Amino acid sequence: MSKLRIEGGRRLSGELKLQGAKNSALPILAATLLGEGVSVIHNCPDLTDIAAAVKILEYLGCKVVREGDTLTVDARQITQCTIPENLMREMRSSIVFLGAMLSRTRKAKICMPGGCELGPRPIDLHLEALKKLGATITSDHGYLDCKVEKGLEGGKISLLFPSVGATENILLASCMAKGRTVIHNAAQEPEIVDLASYLNGRGAKIRGAGKSRIVVDGVEHLDSAEHTVMPDRIVAATYLCAGAITGGEILLREVRPCDLESIFPIFEKMGMHLRMTESEVLLKPPTDGKIRSVNAIRTMPHPGFPTDAQAPIMAVLSVAEGTSMFVENIFESRYKHAQELNRMGADIKVEGRVAVCTGVDALYGTEVQAEDLRGGAALVLAGLRAEGITQVNDIHHIDRGYESIETVLDSLGANIVRIA
Ligand code: UD1
Repeated sequence: MSKLRIEGGRRLSGELKLQGAKNSALPILAATLLGEGVSVIHNCPDLTDIAAAVKILEYLGCKVVREGDTLTVDARQITQCTIPENLMREMRSSIVFLGAMLSRTRKAKICMPGGCELGPRPIDLHLEALKKLGATITSDHGYLDCKVEKGLEGGKISLLFPSVGATENILLASCMAKGRTVIHNAAQEPEIVDLASYLNGRGAKIRGAGKSRIVVDGVEHLDSAEHTVMPDRIVAATYLCAGAITGGEILLREVRPCDLESIFPIFEKMGMHLRMTESEVLLKPPTDGKIRSVNAIRTMPHPGFPTDAQAPIMAVLSVAEGTSMFVENIFESRYKHAQELNRMGADIKVEGRVAVCTGVDALYGTEVQAEDLRGGAALVLAGLRAEGITQVNDIHHIDRGYESIETVLDSLGANIVRIA
């Protein structure tokens, strides 16, 4: 298993161009199955989760070619309607293939995704919604057998929670369904807007993406199309945190500041100075060099503070002056990084969904364990600040979402190497 070795204490500075968003590229890759076209997807990050999605597409019969950050998916011929267990298990979010497969092949057999490192990951909202659109779903020995006898038909769906994945699955299943689908309490994340924009670029009729009510009028045909994946807002937040925790100055290029509006106020409360243009963000350290604590950070569905940015921000606040509080409202078990940060000298107490983080003067390098994607990134951030050497183990979690994190941080002046 690969590890990262970090010698902390260097102030990072410099500029970088952001990778494309994993959480946008994944549903878009699933959407390439719809219709019988060829999709050219630019700005597709080179990540293990994306490689897992490509394996699924290839297994189903698509031809996929990568040239640089462009993936061309030829989905004119589909030969399978089952995703085997080993491929499903490589990536939990492969559930998003279900809606696309039902639309394309009218049947799909996939294994039930299990829990994951963030706690139980139910898919009840996905399944209830797909049933409303006409799917029959039975569960058999850990597999889900899904069929649509007469073709998918539009319907009214009110989500009990604005689930990102369920909203995506509904968009995929409904855009070629018969008639109109209305989604109430839809997720409003920018990645939903990106998916809808890819689908509309192929001729789908989706209105309201990015709002809580989305209307989809089913179409009979989708064209081939080209699409550029949006920049990754969580990776952007992570590299801003790298600047913040080391007292450095970071310029992000090719970013969409509007996607980061719920995160910027936290940086400002921490005392950082931010300057933005339409496609750039510059972060400068507090004038007196001191990171301030933040009263309360509550994770929420978009446009609230994103749960994916909770761990990176916690790393920064672990060395703030004063006490900060986090309330994790999205996932049950998303504080595993806290105990590892404590091993580095942080003072974080976790009680259920609340974490209380009292800033310390210094962090110290030691061997720590990445337990999930963003929590792993938080440990790398802490290692950049810590005195001495930090070794972060199990970085396959980090490789799911960050393109060569060590190369990016090295380019900003960090002393970091990957050890096989
Ligand atoms: C997506 C993102 C993930 C992010 C999350 C919340 C991708 C690939 N992943 O995950 O990075 O942290 O949104 O912004 O885009 N839930 C149910 N039943 C369901 C579906 C969800 O109870 O059928 C619950 C989940 O357990 C969780 C909450 O709803 O507690 C949010 O999940 P959801 O919005 O669906 O997240 P994902 O799409 O899995």
